[in-house]
Amino acid sequence: MSKTPVQFRHNGFDVAVFVDGGASLLTALRDGVGDTSPKFGCGQGTCGVCSVLIDGELHLSCITLAETVGGRSVETADGLKAGAALHPLQTAFMENFAAQCGFCTPGMLMAAKALLDRNPAPTRADVIEAISGNICRCTGYEPIINAILAAAGNRQRA
Ligand code: FES
Ligand code: FES
Repeated sequence: MSKTPVQFRHNGFDVAVFVDGGASLLTALRDGVGDTSPKFGCGQGTCGVCSVLIDGELHLSCITLAETVGGRSVETADGLKAGAALHPLQTAFMENFAAQCGFCTPGMLMAAKALLDRNPAPTRADVIEAISGNICRCTGYEPIINAILAAAGNRQRA
């Protein structure tokens, strides 16, 4: 099968990968770029573990065609930290015990980042709505909600 080249920004760096026709962005990221922070869960747009930002907007990479991100900017959880320094959301998740098995965490972080980027002072209801597309089978969601609110508060005090 012939492959199609796709060039895009990945966490601030230019990358180019060859993808099969119809390949998902999730496959391009994991198998082409080598970024395994977006996870494969349902593969059909219902669990949120594959969430990434495309040009700052939250998308499910498992149902996004890789070819559609040519020339665009893709952010994943792998790009959140700056060197050795964790992103405030990552720190808040750690401090609030918001990750257990951790499988949902990269998607949760990206959903939370999308929220805080557009709304730096969310209400609890805003947070719940923002992560409503992300399934967590471990935490009961409360620690995740608390972590996102804590990250928002810390950012406002910074
Ligand atoms: S793997 Fe993409 S939404 Fe479940
Ligand atoms: S921490 Fe296990 S699925 Fe969320």
